[in-house]
Amino acid sequence: MTQAPEYVAYARMDELHQLQHPRSEARGELNFILLSHVKELLFRAVIDDLDCARHALRHDDVPRACLALSRATRTQRVLVSCWESLNGMSADEFVAFRHVLNDASGVQSFAYRTLEFVMGNRPRRQVEAAHQDGHTLLRAELAKPSLYDVVLQYLARQGFSMPADCVDGPTTRQHEPSSLVEDAWLEIYRHPDRHPGAHRLAEALLEVAYQFSCWRATHLLVVERMLGGKGGTGGSDGAAWLRTINEHRFFPELWTFRTRL
Ligand code: HEM
Repeated sequence: MTQAPEYVAYARMDELHQLQHPRSEARGELNFILLSHVKELLFRAVIDDLDCARHALRHDDVPRACLALSRATRTQRVLVSCWESLNGMSADEFVAFRHVLNDASGVQSFAYRTLEFVMGNRPRRQVEAAHQDGHTLLRAELAKPSLYDVVLQYLARQGFSMPADCVDGPTTRQHEPSSLVEDAWLEIYRHPDRHPGAHRLAEALLEVAYQFSCWRATHLLVVERMLGGKGGTGGSDGAAWLRTINEHRFFPELWTFRTRL
């Protein structure tokens, strides 16, 4: 047997290309699976960079944290632009193979859920489900404070007053918007020259949250384009449900303090 070239062997390209198994003859299904794989892998790349930022911040290393956040943001932009490729499929092409998905839905993506957990969205229902039968990646994430918790701990070390549960509450806690946190961001943006590190960090974090919201908003548009008002394969009422999710913002006080600036 001839040996695979190093490019193929190094990243196991042959295994990678064996993972796509369309269940129908429909034209768009292969691309749908490929794009789903690409997005899953990119979720993982973003998780890895956010984890790197979290690690740096625990050591008060703001420049390194900002570098990792800006890498995450670059990948998030690629994630948003992936919808472009999926939009090449018309609604009738999607309908032609949608039945083979059965109840498969992105809502079951453990990588996406891990990403939400890293960012700090840890609703009790999702946390309980992860503890019961979640993937190991998800359960491992719940043992760590979220990126936002680590940011607030950093601000506490810089002398800002922070709610006690943000600083040393259980890692499985859902972050609740707090006026103390909003006051801290307001002070940082009123006096960026007094708090240059925190200001730079805030801008990098906001960009991550912004790109996340762009991904969600574009997903919603794609869903409307493909399904109109139909329900989702995951059991939700489709676009109507995603519209409510769309209103959620990561790092909420970083958005709300602006009204007072
Ligand atoms: C034709 C393309 C797509 C359609 C029509 C679609 C539709 C939907 C719908 C209706 C939901 C709501 C849950 C449900 O009832 O299923 C949903 C959730 C979701 N989809 Fe998609 N989707 C598409 C492509 C994708 C792709 C390529 C990904 C990336 C891997 C993805 C990731 C997700 C995620 C992560 C959720 C859960 C969102 C949350 O929990 O906040 N979707 N999708």
